[in-house]
Amino acid sequence: MRLILLGPPGAGKGTQAEKLSAYLGVPRVSTGDILRHNVAENTDLGKKAKSFMDSGKLVPDDLVIAMTERRLKEPDAKKGFILDGFPRTIAQAEALSKLTKIDSVVSLFLEPEELIKRNTGRRVCPKDDTVYHIFMNPPKRPGLCDKCGTSLIIRADDKEEVVRKRIETYEKQTAPLIKYYRDRGMLREVYASGLIEEIFQRTIEALKA
Ligand code: AP5
Repeated sequence: MRLILLGPPGAGKGTQAEKLSAYLGVPRVSTGDILRHNVAENTDLGKKAKSFMDSGKLVPDDLVIAMTERRLKEPDAKKGFILDGFPRTIAQAEALSKLTKIDSVVSLFLEPEELIKRNTGRRVCPKDDTVYHIFMNPPKRPGLCDKCGTSLIIRADDKEEVVRKRIETYEKQTAPLIKYYRDRGMLREVYASGLIEEIFQRTIEALKA
């Protein structure tokens, strides 16, 4: 299965991609996580990407396309993958179509105010990228990752003003991909409000349809 998850910031792409990865037995490829690790390690890519990410803008296409191509050529992605956060522009979608065939695109959608609440309450594990929410999806021990015990952090771009900018960026640059994939008969739309497990079941049903 080669799957794309589309959706605005906080729609739950990362949360659902984790569950789908376990269910389908293919890796989750999150361009946001790869970029954040590059920023944390201060690589050349991380240095170039940081200011775009911190201000809620997209990292330039050429950098993200090259990075994703490298990742999809790794052995574990041969059997399939779940793309979380890529493509985000028509140029990225075109580059991806030259690289590989995609089976399905799931578009998660949710009201803007709910997106703000989800992003501003998010906590993440900097080691294994597990995502939590202080109220709606809390860790078992406050402030610590359930899987590895690492102290959870707040993402630099989860300040409310940056979240609003990220939603605006999504509407302008990424939302046109909904029509792009609908026109190609690849789109499945899933309402992303409700319990995490309910949305997962909706997604599975949408993929079977
Ligand atoms: P990225 O990391 O991809 O961020 P994003 O798209 O803004 O998405 P998020 O990670 O914020 O949200 P999500 O939909 O994954 O939701 P999550 O599951 O975490 O990108 C970050 C930045 O990197 C971009 O702004 C850009 O600068 C750059 N970048 C990345 N890819 C790029 C590309 N292709 N091109 C150019 N630049 C790129 O859930 C959110 C919260 O809600 C969590 O706290 C979670 O626990 C909670 N939650 C989830 N589901 C539910 C539920 N059902 N009920 C209650 N709470 C829930």
